[in-house]
Amino acid sequence: MKQTEFKRRRKQIMQQIGKGNLGLIASAPHQTRNRDVDYPYRQDSDFYYLTGFNESGALAVFIPGREQGEYILFCREFDQKKALWEGAHSGLEGATAHYGADDSFPIDDLNDILPGMLENKAKVFYPMGRDSDLDHKLLEWINNLRAQSRNYISAPGELVSLEHILHEMRMFKSAAELKLMRHAGQVSARAHMRVMQLCKPGMYEYQIEAEIVHEFMQAGLRAVAYPSIVAAGKNACVLHYVHNNAKLRRGDLLLVDAGAECDHYAADITRTFPISGKFSREQKLLYQLVLDAQLAAIAEIYPGNPWNKAHEASVQVLTQGLVDLGLLMGDVETLIKDEKYKEFYMHRIGHWLGMDVHDVGDYKINEQWRLLEPGMVLTIEPGLYVQPDCETVDPKWRGIGIRIEDDVLVTKQGHEVLTSGVAKTVAEIEALMQAK
Ligand code: GLY
Ligand code: MN
Ligand code: MN
Repeated sequence: MKQTEFKRRRKQIMQQIGKGNLGLIASAPHQTRNRDVDYPYRQDSDFYYLTGFNESGALAVFIPGREQGEYILFCREFDQKKALWEGAHSGLEGATAHYGADDSFPIDDLNDILPGMLENKAKVFYPMGRDSDLDHKLLEWINNLRAQSRNYISAPGELVSLEHILHEMRMFKSAAELKLMRHAGQVSARAHMRVMQLCKPGMYEYQIEAEIVHEFMQAGLRAVAYPSIVAAGKNACVLHYVHNNAKLRRGDLLLVDAGAECDHYAADITRTFPISGKFSREQKLLYQLVLDAQLAAIAEIYPGNPWNKAHEASVQVLTQGLVDLGLLMGDVETLIKDEKYKEFYMHRIGHWLGMDVHDVGDYKINEQWRLLEPGMVLTIEPGLYVQPDCETVDPKWRGIGIRIEDDVLVTKQGHEVLTSGVAKTVAEIEALMQAK
């Protein structure tokens, strides 16, 4: 992502914060895995969105109209010894030279410098309640300023959620963001194609996971957007299955929910396919039903349509299909009203997608479902999960779990599926798997 993109975002947030006010946001801390070992570092999405700065121990401050510069970055000073052990970090000069900060200060001097910046500001925009240490410090700085009111210094009187304005910005993806999301989608699509081709009875779920990560990393995408779900047979009925340690058995389906992250932007794809390369009769019937529901839901993605229409379309198709196949009995509209389909379809149609896999943004405004607008990206991921102990259905259906998930951009004309590069119809999947 180019620096000009971050600069444009900062300009936008400065306008929203307004003169006379101040905004601030901290970087994510490192997370310890055990003793001296950390988890791979992942910057806080909001912080990265505004700064493009990928280090911990940093705090960005936005002061619209400040003469000496509006964007101030507190960060760690360059330290030769640290560079030797841990590698490059930008230091104060790097913050201004490479990351567009107007001014930079050592993070260790935060307590001395930031209170002065808060003087005579009316509002402070920041992510409230996310970091209790920062919450505490901010209140302390403000209290100290209050104590100085006799010196004609006023303290901020209002704390405002920065997320509210920031998350609204993050919902609408720019051309540069879409480029990254398309790439994440294409690489993830290739990984799904790869495992359909490599899958064999007798392999373990984690070996499929390894093949997915192989494809991501060979393409230069080093992080998964979320832990991959590789669920064989009845494991697919566990919605957030992460054990990935069972053996693949001929005759079962395999559900793979995996997506790569490209420069902090996620893809999120699910495909379900037969381990042997050929669907059984029951698997095919249920698979086709989920696919019909997914296509009906995707057709509801166009500007001006309320968010919930795609979900309603999926519920309608799935409930009708469950009645036709004999898994539910009764009148379709009554079953929908009584939410009987939830025994088999217990989650919603999808979620916003962006820097976070379950991305930020409101789904309702004033208690009304939000209308779709160009630039929004969301997932469409209906599923059916017949629990292995579901006694209300014929045993032949039990233990089948299916989800089909794609990433969809709302465009002016309608929509664009960003993950269309993966086989999806029964015929496509069987042809691909049997060609190996
Ligand atoms: N992979 C998480 C989800 O599909 O929501
Ligand atoms: Mn998803
Ligand atoms: Mn998913």
